[in-house]
Amino acid sequence: KALDNDTSEVGKSLTLYVDGVKRQFDINDPKLPGWVEDHALTGGGYPYDDKLKKKTYEKQLEALQVELVKLQDWLRESGERVVAVFEGRDAAGKGGSIKRVREYLNPRTARNVALVKPTETERGQWYFQRYAAQLPTAGEFVTFDRSWYNRGVIEPVMGFCTPQEHEKFLDEAPKFERMIVNDGIHLFKFWLNIGRETQLKRFHARRHSRLKYWKFSSIDLAAMEKWDDFTRMRDLMIERTHTHDAPWTVVLANDKRRARLGVIRHMLAALSYPGRDVEAIGEEDNKVVRAGPALLR
Ligand code: ADP
Ligand code: MLT
Repeated sequence: KALDNDTSEVGKSLTLYVDGVKRQFDINDPKLPGWVEDHALTGGGYPYDDKLKKKTYEKQLEALQVELVKLQDWLRESGERVVAVFEGRDAAGKGGSIKRVREYLNPRTARNVALVKPTETERGQWYFQRYAAQLPTAGEFVTFDRSWYNRGVIEPVMGFCTPQEHEKFLDEAPKFERMIVNDGIHLFKFWLNIGRETQLKRFHARRHSRLKYWKFSSIDLAAMEKWDDFTRMRDLMIERTHTHDAPWTVVLANDKRRARLGVIRHMLAALSYPGRDVEAIGEEDNKVVRAGPALLR
């Protein structure tokens, strides 16, 4: 995904209201404003004021990845299927979390799905069709980097769907998921939640990185100003699609390390595969990982 060639808009300094305070933000200025830096970890009600230590993170991640490999053995032998949907605002860390989940898994059976915007043909189909086509076969572990939930938040906010299509989606997603779950697929839905300063800091870092600038899209640009619209759509979506069959797991993700561990730990704790080492998995941290909307603000 390339940044639109028209970058004229990118140059302008934005006036943003962040927690009721009027701020100026210019993504092109190489210097990150102090107010962004100061709240990049703690913004949005994040419960920790330091990142998890790198050593601790690496040690725990490795232990969890060993468990994921056991999980993969179980999938292969039993034919069980897993789907993990990763949702969240731009720069929430979906891609990075998926990368850690899949790092030591066989790429043939641990497949990632990241669909581009629908083609003309796809737009003529049933909305869920192209996603249904990507669901796992026996033994597969499929991660979705964005999913059918595009129609829950990004499409209505950006005007890519009509209000009627949005409402229809909110009504149908639980039914679609019920069929998936009734067919025996283990379905996880993660909402990675970041604060506003975290998002700005990550956008800024992308914009000024020779390796990551391509990740900064025109949608990200709009997202900076449409924060509150995204919040409203997020809350409505979680309210309508957090069901008994297919609950949402909200992960506070300002600290990428805790978020990644939280995601993997949650899946391992929910699935009973042979040789599961409960001690290696450890306790879920309910300050950052919780079912339903309780942690959102
Ligand atoms: P990323 O997934 O890397 O954050 P973008 O921020 O560019 O990518 O886009 C966010 C999502 O919006 C993507 O899933 C993309 O397919 C979708 N999208 C972009 N343009 C459209 C469009 N015109 N109609 C429907 N969906 C779109
Ligand atoms: C993320 O970081 O959440 C996504 O994978 C990438 C993006 O937001 O563009």
